[in-house]
Amino acid sequence: MATPSRQYHNLALTGFMGAGKTTVGYFLAEILQFELIDTDKVIEEQQGRRVSEIFAEQGEPAFRAMESKLVVDLGHRRDLIIATGGGLVLDPTNRANLRDTSLVACLWASAETIFERVRHQTHRPLLRGPDPLGRIRHLLESRSPIYREADLLVGVDFRNPPDTARYIAEAFLNARKASPPG
Ligand code: S3P
Repeated sequence: MATPSRQYHNLALTGFMGAGKTTVGYFLAEILQFELIDTDKVIEEQQGRRVSEIFAEQGEPAFRAMESKLVVDLGHRRDLIIATGGGLVLDPTNRANLRDTSLVACLWASAETIFERVRHQTHRPLLRGPDPLGRIRHLLESRSPIYREADLLVGVDFRNPPDTARYIAEAFLNARKASPPG
């Protein structure tokens, strides 16, 4: 849960690939008049190549290091919606750094919903392979305790992105009201 002693300069969206972080982030940015930062997109712009190319050419650890550096950089800024890559919160330091300045909202979707959303997409290196649904189930289960550490867990199987954004925006504004000025 959100804690009164924390600072909520930014709002971070976490959750599995295909849960809708970027889309919900877009609506949240509209509602709160914040800037939307999509960590995958920023890294792609910084590196001049796609996430899939970074995985293939430099390996996943190199990509994770880029994510960690970006989280630190974003911690110096305010009024951001940070739509995180689905694996960014696997690193405990990234989780702690996000919590330092952001309310963390996790979009929770079932493996079946995620599969339906991503089955025709090809840009996610971790879901390439013969059994994407099995891979999603496995990754979701192993990551579930980490995603559940968020301040707010929002089911998105039966909630559309604008409604999800309105719900999170209200929780964010309430958390801010209860937090110390700063
Ligand atoms: C990943 C999620 C992706 C991207 C990379 C790894 C993950 O982001 O960062 O492919 O480990 O879950 P999205 O959640 O935006 O698809």
